[in-house]
Amino acid sequence: MAHVIENIKQSLLEDESSGSIWYPCTQMQDHEQMPPLPVVGAKGAYIELADGSKVIDVISSWWTKPFGHGQPEIKAALQRQLEQFEHVMLPGTSSEVVENVANRLAQIAAPLDKTFFASDGCCAVEIAMKMSLHVRMVQGQPKRTRFLALENSYHGETLGALAVSDCDRFRQAYETLLAPVTFLTGIPYVTGVDDPLWHNATDAWQACLPQLEEVAEDLTAIIVEPIMQGAGGMLIYSADFLRSLCVWAKDHGIHVICDEIASGFGRTGKMLAYQHTDITPDFVCLSKAITGGYLPMSVTQTSTEIYDVLYGHPFHRSFLHSNTFAGNPLAAACAGAALNLLVQGQYDVKAERMQSKLMGFLQGVADKTGQLSNLRGIGAMVAADLKVESGERRGWAVYQQALKQGLMLRPIGNTLYWFPPIGLSSVVLNSIAKKTEAAILAVAS
Ligand SMILES: Cc1ncc(COP(=O)(O)O)c(C=O)c1O
Repeated sequence: MAHVIENIKQSLLEDESSGSIWYPCTQMQDHEQMPPLPVVGAKGAYIELADGSKVIDVISSWWTKPFGHGQPEIKAALQRQLEQFEHVMLPGTSSEVVENVANRLAQIAAPLDKTFFASDGCCAVEIAMKMSLHVRMVQGQPKRTRFLALENSYHGETLGALAVSDCDRFRQAYETLLAPVTFLTGIPYVTGVDDPLWHNATDAWQACLPQLEEVAEDLTAIIVEPIMQGAGGMLIYSADFLRSLCVWAKDHGIHVICDEIASGFGRTGKMLAYQHTDITPDFVCLSKAITGGYLPMSVTQTSTEIYDVLYGHPFHRSFLHSNTFAGNPLAAACAGAALNLLVQGQYDVKAERMQSKLMGFLQGVADKTGQLSNLRGIGAMVAADLKVESGERRGWAVYQQALKQGLMLRPIGNTLYWFPPIGLSSVVLNSIAKKTEAAILAVAS
């Protein structure tokens, strides 16, 4: 693998036509040390490179692949749809393939039975935010314009979604364009479902209440990543706390938006992560795994109650948000097949069963390296923090070393995590653990 990286660097230097892509989530200068991998294929947990070597995709291509790459049933569904039609605009049309996805989602997120389609996760978040505000306007509640999000939240990077994201490094340059948002601090983080705080977070809840009461009358909605916060550091928080927060919101007439873009579709051991509690949100945002990671699709799922507020004339009620490729039939065909697999294959149960195995492997890495702290996990996700001196970019160094071992680790800062295909075999998990261990030790030495 190390020689692959050297070869790529060389070919990039020689090839004047390369270098036109400005990569997402990348400081481009880092490619001088670590050029992009030349991908020629992908199957199961593996990405295949031009020289025939393979890299294990342990973060499921940014959390989109519960089944791994190249899932045959999704591929077949996509091919069948291609034979029929590829894209017809959604406004004013209807087709079985798109209806089918909406109907399935209505079952998965019951009783939220209205599905609004878009393309990317951040759009689904902004649609929920806009619907909430729009309902306030129609209902004559002009004071309720504020959103509350959690510390360490991440909801995407368009300006509305970024406003409710507590990630300084993504926000800094654009603060002047971001709406004011309250970030709730003192969230009771847990190591997993066996942590006592998971079931009882009364003290933390009581300590948070003053922050909530201060803004209660101004809030239109509270937005959360239920149970698992992703890009903010792969953090897990108390189900009891989530429940208290949502009950409080309902009691105060405040909408609840559950952003399940990372946590949805079985990953945490429930089909949707908020289902670890008995709450019913007003909006659920879904994307990523919805098509098995084949094509972009996102949806905002909401209730008939919300829908009814924006139903009928006069004109100011119409929810006019539109994304050109909303409800794209090819993506819908993939989603139909993916949702079938997720439900019939009980991927929520599979993920729950995977937790102790994943944690066992991660604990092994922690024991052998002595370099990890704060191990945590839920369902088919585990994470830990690298022990670092302040300001150190050790996660980046481990990422480079892991690639040399044939592992796509891509830490979040100095947080390492595994978010593999659900149900991945022990043999591959063992290999992931060995490669992670070797990468950490190489950097430590
Ligand atoms: C919880 C959450 N919400 C929203 C988003 C934004 O999704 P997208 O990148 O598709 O806009 C992400 C992306 O990682 C996410 O994890």
